[in-house]
Amino acid sequence: MDLEDRPIGFFDSGIGGISVLKEAVKILSNEDFVYFGDSKMAPYGVKTAEEVKRLTFNAVELLLTKNIKALVVACNTATSAAIIDLRKKYSKSMPIIGIEPALKPAVEFNRKGKIVIMATTMTLSERKFSNLMKKYESRSSIEPLPCPGLVELIEQGKIEGEEVEGYLKEKLNSLKDEGIAAVVLGCTHYPFVKKSIRKILNEDIPIIDGSKGTVEQLKRQLVKYHIKNNKNKVGKVTIFNSMESKFIIQLSYKLLKEGSI
Ligand code: DGL
Repeated sequence: MDLEDRPIGFFDSGIGGISVLKEAVKILSNEDFVYFGDSKMAPYGVKTAEEVKRLTFNAVELLLTKNIKALVVACNTATSAAIIDLRKKYSKSMPIIGIEPALKPAVEFNRKGKIVIMATTMTLSERKFSNLMKKYESRSSIEPLPCPGLVELIEQGKIEGEEVEGYLKEKLNSLKDEGIAAVVLGCTHYPFVKKSIRKILNEDIPIIDGSKGTVEQLKRQLVKYHIKNNKNKVGKVTIFNSMESKFIIQLSYKLLKEGSI
């Protein structure tokens, strides 16, 4: 098989990375994709960086058996913990693209109030995030907001309704009173609850995620390494999950097709 015909590997701790895959299918519609979600071990965000690194390397080894030509770590937590070591080990054989909270576009909106960054506890406590904060904290007031428990709700398919809205209200209501400039979704699961977040926030507050930027970076890398598929066909998506349950696979395909973001 020609290199350009091989699939692109996507990885997340669970179903969250589907929000990034959704964007990739739109922008790179003729590519084939293989997605692996590690729902059995989710959530990653409350584990140690060492543990997340180990799980991430296992997942990448599995994706390599699927003959991937590029890797997207569609998980902010795994990117924080493992991207440097992943690149050390694999970047000679394929481009590796990670994701981080989209703070730059949020700052560039130049709105009054705090920029709230919703993410996992681990993402917000890693060096990668403190370096990102340092870059922008002189220009904006940034409020990191860890959301433990939210990934678990989304993994159960609870993306709308009383439970998730109650959780989000508790997190956001007090910040709302202080004035919110923008909300950054720094975990790839959270775009699936964007509708529920919107119910709590005023219409004019931007809610931003990093999917588009990540997929644009993927596209640039495919072009740079001359491995972009240029055939005129519609690509296919194959989804695997460590949970091996029908529910999680069906939910994954459902969110890929219908999940409004
Ligand atoms: N989707 C992962 C992220 O972007 C969620 C991490 C978790 O499993 O806690 O951070």
